[in-house]
Amino acid sequence: MRTLIIPLMTTALVVAGTAAAGDGADRAAGYAGSEACRDCHADLFPHFERNVHAGSLVRTRAGVAGCESCHGPAAAHAEDPSQLGGLITFAAGKEGEGARACLTCHRDNQTVSPFLRATHGRSGLACTACHASPHAPAPVQLVRARVNSQREGAPVVGRHLKGDRDELCLSCHPQLRGSLAMPFRHPVAEGAISCSSCHNPHLNGATYASTRNQCLSCHEDKRGPWAFEHAPVAEDCTSCHEPHGSVAPSLLRTAEPFLCLSCHVLPDDRHGQEIGGTRFSRAIYQRCTTCHGAVHGSHGDRHLKK
Ligand code: HEC
Ligand code: HEC
Ligand code: HEC
Ligand code: HEC
Ligand code: HEC
Ligand code: HEC
Ligand code: HEC
Ligand code: HEC
Ligand code: HEC
Ligand code: HEC
Repeated sequence: MRTLIIPLMTTALVVAGTAAAGDGADRAAGYAGSEACRDCHADLFPHFERNVHAGSLVRTRAGVAGCESCHGPAAAHAEDPSQLGGLITFAAGKEGEGARACLTCHRDNQTVSPFLRATHGRSGLACTACHASPHAPAPVQLVRARVNSQREGAPVVGRHLKGDRDELCLSCHPQLRGSLAMPFRHPVAEGAISCSSCHNPHLNGATYASTRNQCLSCHEDKRGPWAFEHAPVAEDCTSCHEPHGSVAPSLLRTAEPFLCLSCHVLPDDRHGQEIGGTRFSRAIYQRCTTCHGAVHGSHGDRHLKK
């Protein structure tokens, strides 16, 4: 049993509640084992023992379990508590060191492993800026909180997060509150989707896939392939849409026709011609999509009208 290392890629939930491992196996190379900590840090055991990180099966690749899997070799400190050198303390100013300690186990999880190279990691955030520490008293949910399962007003606490996911993000990104309250918006405030439906906070740029693929994962009908595609749609949805919210309908960056006219210069006479018996005059004063309704691409009309 002692040689087992939990494969971190699996979603297997490690059963917590067993005693924090503190056995002889950890005594090598400056490790004292968790039981050695109990004498002086007994107050930290009750919460920890209910945490997913407790349990003798949760080990680093080097086989270290329990307290020292995060705090590093602490035999010297257990001998003489004033010896703090070499301990990983997760203190302010040492966020990178702390994150690296967490990643000794989580580095195989590709959702999480890019953290130190990504915006949040490079900005000096600790893992515990968002995740509750394993010493937190909250009874933590071990399963991913499903995005749509929350009842109105109920906080979503998933993945050991410190609170409602969106409130957590908004506490550092308050400027988003304005966007999310705009007349046209993604239904984040309504609870239908959340920040992490689109953003992976451990990744650079913090979006899961290329933005376009991210959008298409929910708006599949805009994918095509089209016989006549609209070049900007094939490139990047956000050249026309605001991802969070907008004063313009359909989350457009600016309302029509100005949005279209930011790329298209329309000679009025062209649209003013008589075509098939109808006179298309003053088209530029209208919503372009009144006529160009297939703005995301068309199967039959190169002018994107149907
Ligand atoms: C003999 C008592 C004693 C033992 C045994 C002991 N500690 Fe400590 N520990 C202390 C004291 C006292 C402090 C506070 C030291 C200070 O702040 O100067 C402390 C502080 C710490 C800190 C925080 C350091 C900081 O700067 O915030 C960590 C982490 C820690 N101990 C981990 C452990 C681990 C892991 C073990 C078991 C391997 C352990 N301790 C065993 C007495 C002990
Ligand atoms: C999964 C990683 C992890 C494990 C395992 C772990 N800790 Fe910690 N510990 C942390 C983090 C993160 C903090 C900083 C908490 C914070 O900033 O809120 C911390 C803080 C501490 C502190 C200083 C703050 C305090 O609450 O006094 C001590 C002492 C400590 N841990 C001891 C222990 C002991 C003893 C064990 C085993 C029973 C243990 N830790 C297991 C991650 C861990
Ligand atoms: C000794 C290995 C180890 C270390 C070190 C470690 N973890 Fe974990 N962690 C695990 C295992 C195993 C699980 C449960 C399986 C899983 O979800 O990958 C887990 C689960 C988690 C989860 C919850 C995932 C879920 O499914 O709910 C979070 C969040 C997490 N760890 C964050 C941290 C943070 C933050 C640190 C550093 C303070 C840390 N871990 C250090 C092994 C470790
Ligand atoms: C800016 C906030 C933030 C920071 C910083 C952060 N996380 Fe996360 N983490 C999250 C959120 C939000 C989720 C849940 C994503 C979801 O709901 O799918 C998560 C999920 C996880 C998971 C579960 C991933 C999975 O789906 O398999 C693990 C493990 C984890 N984080 C570990 C870490 C570790 C380790 C660090 C530091 C190296 C860290 N996180 C830093 C916000 C953060
Ligand atoms: C529908 C998908 C989606 C949702 C939901 C979403 N975002 Fe975004 N977010 C994006 C995209 C796409 C970008 C890149 C925008 C760009 O390139 O113009 C972005 C950019 C950002 C940025 C950086 C640029 C800026 O506007 O400041 C932050 C910060 C941000 N989002 C935070 C959040 C937070 C916090 C939430 C939840 C309250 C959230 N997002 C919800 C898709 C989304
Ligand atoms: C503790 C504060 C903090 C929390 C919590 C936090 N962020 Fe950030 N976030 C930052 C900082 C700092 C930056 C980088 C500087 C900036 O752009 O403001 C950043 C940048 C971003 C960016 C821009 C990324 C890029 O590469 O341009 C996005 C998107 C983002 N955060 C989304 C989120 C989401 C989603 C959450 C919630 C899961 C979240 N943030 C939680 C502090 C935080
Ligand atoms: C997690 C799923 C999800 C993702 C990812 C997503 N959306 Fe949405 N989107 C929705 C939902 C849900 C609605 C609300 C639909 C409704 O009210 O009928 C919506 C509404 C919209 C609307 C407004 C529809 C209207 O009638 O006003 C636009 C435009 C839109 N999304 C564009 C985007 C773009 C651009 C992206 C990528 C940045 C994106 N979406 C990513 C789920 C998603
Ligand atoms: C050239 C500008 C442009 C680009 C690029 C664009 N859209 Fe749109 N989108 C529009 C306009 C204009 C509307 C409003 C159409 C209407 O009112 O008939 C719209 C409406 C929508 C709607 C809501 C109405 C509906 O038809 O379902 C969704 C969802 C949407 N777009 C998703 C996307 C996605 C996903 C992408 C990227 C693949 C994208 N859009 C790229 C211009 C654009
Ligand atoms: C980001 C720039 C951009 C925006 C915004 C934009 N377009 Fe386009 N559009 C293009 C490009 C590039 C082409 C391809 C031009 C070409 O092939 O000559 C194109 C092609 C078209 C065509 C087909 C042209 C043809 O030759 O038949 C129509 C119709 C069209 N756009 C209508 C619109 C409408 C309506 C809007 C506003 C909802 C809009 N466009 C917004 C860049 C844009
Ligand atoms: C009343 C209907 C109508 C409106 C409104 C309209 N168009 Fe057109 N548009 C057409 C028709 C019909 C054609 C095809 C002309 C042809 O067959 O030669 C066309 C052609 C185009 C073309 C192809 C290039 C060209 O000049 O032949 C572009 C680009 C275009 N429209 C963009 C726009 C934009 C941008 C708007 C809004 C400012 C707009 N249209 C408003 C009917 C309209």
